[in-house]
Amino acid sequence: MGTALSDPRRTPEPEPESEPEPDPGPDVGAGASPTAGALGVAVVGTGRIARKWHLSAWAARSDARLLWTVDVDRDSAREAAATWSVPRSATDLATVLDDPDVAVVDLCTPPEHHAPQLLAALRAGKHVLVEKPAAWSLAEVRAMAEAAEEAEAAGGPVAMVAENWLHSPAIARLRRLVEGGALGEPLVVAGTLETGTALPRTPQQQRSRLLNGGVHMVTTIRHLFGEPTHVGAFTLPDRAEGPTGPRTDLDIVASLRFADGRIGSFQQSGRSQRPRPGVRVVRVLGTEGMAEADPIAGWAAWTETAWDGGTHHRWQDTTGAAGQDAEIAHFLDVVRGRATPLPTLRDQLRTHHVMEAMLTSARSFETVEIPAA
Ligand SMILES: NC(=O)c1ccc[n+]([C@@H]2O[C@H](COP(=O)([O-])OP(=O)(O)OC[C@H]3O[C@@H](n4cnc5c(N)ncnc54)[C@H](O)[C@@H]3O)[C@@H](O)[C@H]2O)c1
Repeated sequence: MGTALSDPRRTPEPEPESEPEPDPGPDVGAGASPTAGALGVAVVGTGRIARKWHLSAWAARSDARLLWTVDVDRDSAREAAATWSVPRSATDLATVLDDPDVAVVDLCTPPEHHAPQLLAALRAGKHVLVEKPAAWSLAEVRAMAEAAEEAEAAGGPVAMVAENWLHSPAIARLRRLVEGGALGEPLVVAGTLETGTALPRTPQQQRSRLLNGGVHMVTTIRHLFGEPTHVGAFTLPDRAEGPTGPRTDLDIVASLRFADGRIGSFQQSGRSQRPRPGVRVVRVLGTEGMAEADPIAGWAAWTETAWDGGTHHRWQDTTGAAGQDAEIAHFLDVVRGRATPLPTLRDQLRTHHVMEAMLTSARSFETVEIPAA
């Protein structure tokens, strides 16, 4: 068996969040909230993902309190504050880093801002949740991982990447099946991610579908099977499509080999013609069964024993399917010292190494050894 992404003994599988219990927990240091054990939270970047998930998830908790919304777009910050009953809004991060009542900074800004913002927040003693992808460049993700590790080693604030797929009930169920032996020996993993042709909005997102969206699937594959050591990948040739010109990784297929000889595949296409949300299925084939799951639609299915016959199961729960509430619950457990980050910045650096190796392989037509992060 490969090394799992996180040690399950230290990081229990996330379950769908039940009613949060008010629990002050231990002293969390600088930034402890003024209100009975509730942690003060600043959400930075009040765009699409903050409005879709983060602000509602924080607002629903009794053990955390939204204190600030921050956005360079003043109107957006104000409007989000009004919608989620947040007392204050600002246009720059520095303002909230100076507020001793803020314990947690939740970075929902575009990835090009994540590294400087995370480093500044950790230096200010704030715990940080940062949206995926951690950053666009390996160097930035590495700097973030090192800063997070230094802060942790010094007993300071903690950092976690908001990788919601790992907290989705469907992926948690799939991992339990894989780890629990229901499939016999899991030997092959296959991840398929097909999204629509609509262009991501920012130039950076347009340049890399893999880093922007594939990061979810590559992280999930590692979560299930451990570290791949070699990759061979192909993309369609560069072609000018739409208004933005060439996009090398709009379509990519990759083969993976893990340290223990197990194998896997990753396929991503940005030209699905299916209705939203496309296809996001990860499948594991074992000696005595197979299982698959869709973290966004919130289902898992598995078959035990025979090719002809056997037992088929299907489970579906769309409540909190994408894992956003469980992700924030888990992060609060990390802040209170009850869990380890899922995933850490170091984990994400490993995912970024896999993705970079895919792109190197596609350019060179060679199998590429994935460096250890
Ligand atoms: N987990 C998921 O499935 C998922 C889905 C969508 C987006 N995301 C991630 O969330 C992050 C944000 O994406 P989005 O789609 O919400 O983007 P968005 O463009 O809709 O929102 C980003 C917001 O950040 C603000 N902003 C930009 N620079 C800033 C700065 N320096 N300081 C403060 N605010 C700033 C912008 O004005 C904007 O309101 C990205 O990392 C993205 O990859 C994750």
